Amino acid sequence: MSQKAASQKTAKAAKNVKPATTSTKSLLVENRVFKPAAEFSKKARISSMAQYRKMHEESLRHPEKFFAREAKELAWRKPFKKVLDWKCPNAKWFTGGQLNVSENCLDRHLDGPRKTKAAIIWEGEPGEKRVITYQQLHRDVCRFSNVLKRHKVRKGDRVVIYMPMVPEAAVAMLACTRIGAVHSVVFGGFSAESIKDRVLDSGATVVITADGGYRRGAVVPLKKNVDDALKGGDTPVKTVIVLRRTGQDVHIEEGRDYWWHRELEYVDANCPAVALDSEAPLFILYTSGSTGKPKGILHSTAGYLLHAQMTCKYVFDLRDDDVYWCTADIGWVTGHSYMVYGPLAMGATSLMYEGAPNWPENDRFWRIIEEYAVTVFYTAPTAIRAFMKWGDDWLKKHDLSSLRLLGTVGEPINPEAWMWYHKLVGGGRCPIVDTWWQTETGGHMITPIPGATPTKPGTATLPFFGVDAAIVDDLGKEVGTNEQGKLVIRKPWPSMLRGIWGDKKRYQDTYWSEFKGWYFAGDGARRDKDGYIWIIGRIDDVLNVAGHRLGTAEVESALVSHPAVAESAVVGRPDELKGQGVVCFVTVKEGVKAGRELADALKSHVRKVIGPVATPDEIRFAAALPKTRSGKIMRRLLKQIAAGETLKGDTTTLEDINVIAALAAASGED
Ligand code: WT7
Repeated sequence: MSQKAASQKTAKAAKNVKPATTSTKSLLVENRVFKPAAEFSKKARISSMAQYRKMHEESLRHPEKFFAREAKELAWRKPFKKVLDWKCPNAKWFTGGQLNVSENCLDRHLDGPRKTKAAIIWEGEPGEKRVITYQQLHRDVCRFSNVLKRHKVRKGDRVVIYMPMVPEAAVAMLACTRIGAVHSVVFGGFSAESIKDRVLDSGATVVITADGGYRRGAVVPLKKNVDDALKGGDTPVKTVIVLRRTGQDVHIEEGRDYWWHRELEYVDANCPAVALDSEAPLFILYTSGSTGKPKGILHSTAGYLLHAQMTCKYVFDLRDDDVYWCTADIGWVTGHSYMVYGPLAMGATSLMYEGAPNWPENDRFWRIIEEYAVTVFYTAPTAIRAFMKWGDDWLKKHDLSSLRLLGTVGEPINPEAWMWYHKLVGGGRCPIVDTWWQTETGGHMITPIPGATPTKPGTATLPFFGVDAAIVDDLGKEVGTNEQGKLVIRKPWPSMLRGIWGDKKRYQDTYWSEFKGWYFAGDGARRDKDGYIWIIGRIDDVLNVAGHRLGTAEVESALVSHPAVAESAVVGRPDELKGQGVVCFVTVKEGVKAGRELADALKSHVRKVIGPVATPDEIRFAAALPKTRSGKIMRRLLKQIAAGETLKGDTTTLEDINVIAALAAASGED
């Protein structure tokens, strides 16, 4: 079918379907089914539902057998004795075994033809291009590992990485794993204060950064943010290593700051990988929860790596001749599992692009796909909706026929966006894997298997191997077909988080207390008549803004740290592009003038405290916030007001019903 015909068909199809983000009802009427093309299935590792079902059943019934077999595909220094040791909430996988992640991602590919294969293809936002072979990447990682050792980084030490999307970010991560240091990557869109919080919480002694990074033509002042974070000297950081990327002048603090390229002059390229226990901590990644303080999600070595590799094998069905592109930033878990560890463990070619999708023009992504003949493409629904908005012409200028498989992650994909992705990007021939998972799960949990699973627009379909997913009511009883409930995972899986850094109790309370012995994901979901799981979205106080996770409490605590603010309540409202937008209800202190000026000041205050990722979409001033008699803020009402809906539900517990009407009317931005 021609692209034009395809787009006409899409437009027609789109009329019948409402976006999932604004209505869950549309999901109930979605019954189009897309079977994998015979040609795709024929070549796929898993090519039928019977094969998927058999493997899934085995993975739940006999996990020891199933995972022992899969784990053979990792390179072990010392074989494991036991597959699983489970005492809720603590799982130990592959105990007695030893291995090294960087060795699995690099060294083991050097014996054969992969040695000279591209490990990373990189494009900078201004347009530079680099191809780094496995042999070169190995050498870069070894040398940088020696730099870390020179700065006395030892096994178990924490290293914060705050870098742009350049190959050196992956080098830094892999170098940590080579010597057993624990990295904590902080997304470049976070502020100095957020860096400081993460440095303090993790106890990091080293920060790796760059002078700056490019984003939409501008320079993000990464080093300056690090300087601000470390100001006052009240952190454990002793060393900062600075990559020269953008070239602007930066402050270099004698005795603390070192240029990356200079440090390389002192080291050689010989650095054996350290054998680490299966359960050795691999990385910490901070993510938002329902209280103010982000939590350091801890992942460990063998189980995480196995799951990352195994999902690349079965879900992306990665092959040696694939050019695979995951558009996520390394600051998020997707960048960890599906740009660095999974694809490199597979010996695949992973493409990395530094900048924005609309720089210099709206077709940058399609340009890249065409130029490098990308075959597997993994992106987020929010990006897809932006492309749709920019119009089909940008994409039609480019030859996307190299693509064979598409993926999405980060939030529920509305059926129109799915159809557009399918027809326009995939030319109607590429399976779409809508992968549900979380920072905590380490890798894909609910996802189609592309050569087997018939897909429907808007559902992540069925659980991956080892994943025992259920949808239950508040008492833990499974809900009926098409009834909404809470998503739980009833068995441990290899890449599950091992804890929250420094907070055992919060780990237990957050994930394992709602339902004894089961992992509670924080998402609402339902199952259709075919057993397919439809994710509705978060049911806790966590927002999903353009695929980025944000705690309402985090934004609230940033707001009340401003001297003008007395109280605040933050809620999400449906947003056509971002999935959710951030709406802040604010009461001001005595004598403070609320108005546009203060609204702007509060927006930039939140940017400063948390970072640009958390910028509020709207500040609404109120004389008072609606509360129950016990003093609890009535978020349900605020959500309805923020969404511009008419108020529904029981409001008799309201302390002051009048505040509602006032809130609905008063917007600080009018
Ligand atoms: C939350 C986790 C997983 C890496 C990126 C986000 C939502 C994620 C999907 C999907 C529906 C999804 C969930 C989840 N989510 N993928 N395919 N369909 N919702 O990681 O920041 O830890 O956020 O993202 O609500 O709980 P994260």
